[in-house]
Amino acid sequence: MGLNNFSKLLKLANRKYSNSMITVGAHLPEFEFKTVKQETDGACSAPYPIKTSEVFKGKRAVLVSIPGAFTPVCSSRHIPEFIEKFGELKKKGVELIACTAVNDAFVMGAWSEKLNAFGKVLMLADGAGKFAKAIGAEEDLTEKGLGMRGKRFALLLDDGVVKYVGVDDTGLDKSSAEAILKQL
Ligand code: BEZ
Repeated sequence: MGLNNFSKLLKLANRKYSNSMITVGAHLPEFEFKTVKQETDGACSAPYPIKTSEVFKGKRAVLVSIPGAFTPVCSSRHIPEFIEKFGELKKKGVELIACTAVNDAFVMGAWSEKLNAFGKVLMLADGAGKFAKAIGAEEDLTEKGLGMRGKRFALLLDDGVVKYVGVDDTGLDKSSAEAILKQL
C-alpha cells in the first residue's frame, strides 16, 4: 500500500475510533480529579483526590473546561465572569461551579488563589488529560506550545446528567456564564 493510502486509512480509523464529545442526556463518567484547599501562608497544599460522583451528586452544577490555567482569555474573561456572576447563577438554582483543565493541581491551586476563586469555583485538575479524553473533549494545542489539552466548554449538569453542552472553538459565546444563565 502506498504511503498516501496508508495515511488516508489511518486518518479514517482515527476518526472512527476517536471519542466524540459528551452529549445532552449522558451521565458524567466517574473520574478522580485532584484539587487543593486554600492555604493562608502561601504554601502549596497537598493535592487530594475528589471524584465526579462526590462533586456533582444531587446538585445542579456547571462544569467549565478551559485550555489552560493562566492563559489570557481564561484568566481575564472566562473564569472571572463565572466568579462575578456566582450570585446570579446561585439565584437561578446553580449550586456548584467547577472548572477543569489539563493542568496539575498545584497550578490550578495557584490560579485559584490569583483569581480569588476559592469558595466560588472549585478547581478540578485533570493532570494527565484522562477526563478530557473520557468525555471526548481532548484538543491538540501543540502548535500553540501547550500540548494535549481539553476543549473550552461549559456543561450544565443535574445530578451528574448533562443538560446543556456549549463548546467554543473560538470566543466564549456558548461556554460563558452568560450562555449558562440563558439556559436557566
Ligand atoms: C487563552 O487565552 O485562553 C488561550 C491562549 C492560548 C491557547 C489556549 C488558550
